[in-house]
Amino acid sequence: MREAIPRAFIKSFGCQMNVYDSERMGDLAAEAGYSEAARAEDADLIVLNTCHIREHASEKIYSELGKLRRLKEERGRAGRRTMLVVAGCVAQAEGAEILRRQPAVDIVVGPQSYHRLPELLGEARLRPGIVDTDFPLEDKFSHLPATPPDAIRRRGASAFVTVQEGCDKFCSFCVVPYTRGAEASRPLGSVLGEIAHLAQAGVSEVTLIGQNVNAYHGLDDRGQPIGLAGLIRAAAAVPGIRRVRYTTSHPNDMSEDLIQAHRDVRALAPFLHLPVQSGSDAILKAMNRRHRAADYLDIVARVRAVRPDIALSSDFIVGYPGETGADFDETLALVRTVGFASAYAFKYSPRPGTPAADMPAQIGAAEKERRLAALQALIEDQRQAFNRASVGRRLEVLFEKPGKREGQIAGRSPYMQAVFAEGPKSLIGKLAEVEILAAEAHSLRGRVVSPAS
Ligand code: 5AD
Ligand code: SF4
Repeated sequence: MREAIPRAFIKSFGCQMNVYDSERMGDLAAEAGYSEAARAEDADLIVLNTCHIREHASEKIYSELGKLRRLKEERGRAGRRTMLVVAGCVAQAEGAEILRRQPAVDIVVGPQSYHRLPELLGEARLRPGIVDTDFPLEDKFSHLPATPPDAIRRRGASAFVTVQEGCDKFCSFCVVPYTRGAEASRPLGSVLGEIAHLAQAGVSEVTLIGQNVNAYHGLDDRGQPIGLAGLIRAAAAVPGIRRVRYTTSHPNDMSEDLIQAHRDVRALAPFLHLPVQSGSDAILKAMNRRHRAADYLDIVARVRAVRPDIALSSDFIVGYPGETGADFDETLALVRTVGFASAYAFKYSPRPGTPAADMPAQIGAAEKERRLAALQALIEDQRQAFNRASVGRRLEVLFEKPGKREGQIAGRSPYMQAVFAEGPKSLIGKLAEVEILAAEAHSLRGRVVSPAS
């Protein structure tokens, strides 16, 4: 009797880098003979690619694992074995503790060693309960199989490409320097090779991702140092690539060269996600951000001078230890001064092992909640104002998927706004000019005015 093809289900939590890593683990699973399962219930291999950035994110993993243990037991009673893998930043931070809290887990693998997944699966079949959270010297990327063209097409016309990982900034609230390790850039040739491979399979938009992407540093083909701006120029020159984005950046790495790229590189989308975290200099200092609010405003002014229409986005933390009402008002004032197209606000969440977790003057839950609501309301007003200002304009939209209603297709404007329009499915994967008719609650509604270019 022939064995059925085993199936893998990979669930991603957290940031875009986890989405990218999950796709690459999917490529590894495919190479190891697994086909994709749409639900955990049908899978012989289940991977949770986890996030540790805030407390509720990591607690969610343990409740998910509790459910998966029961699923694994049920499948076991039906004679089917399920391999349960915890990957990502919770795996890195908690290691063997995960096996202690949930013994049904077969493998714990960190973000720098997941290229070893096929070997680990072989070992864990004989001896479950493996932990691999090394930061190996070998380059993970050179051990990953190229994504097959049909998988690229299934994932769509817009793709993430990791160009840099880790962080040396050590903001005092953040676990990333501990879970993702020291800042390291991928060689230029490896990144451009991946982008060319994606473009050949129909990808037209790439988002260059890194925890500190604008700290990217590589060498060009003459051996000269090259930063993110140089990488953006090179990515934009790859045949088939029509749009380039990058995320996430740190204010202190916004070089003049990168700002100029927003003027010169036509394919570089007019969107910048630049986290500032707080508008108060006292809090920025306590956070070890190493810049002041005025430095941030100066960068914003310089970027707007070269690209006046740029859409700005940011991250904020409210209720950082010691944050007074006056500090918080300075955050609101910064938001009013900048005028964001979108932004994320989070309540401060103490992370074990980070300096801020042990600071005195932790802020109470109710006050954090109040500040979060006030900041989110202001951000929402700005988002809606930005979207309303697009009504009547013609924007180039990259259509990515069918819309919610029959006959609709959905995509993104250069400014990252979600746009939907009536149109044929044949436009999916293509760029088209769209006249914006209305700003709805979460997206823009438009009319396709010119066929795909
Ligand atoms: N508490 C709350 N928010 C956090 N972030 C990072 N660490 C914490 C924390 N301990 C937020 C920052 C960062 C975003 C990815 O997550 O705003 O930019
Ligand atoms: Fe974390 Fe970003 Fe600060 Fe690095 S720069 S420590 S990733 S918040």
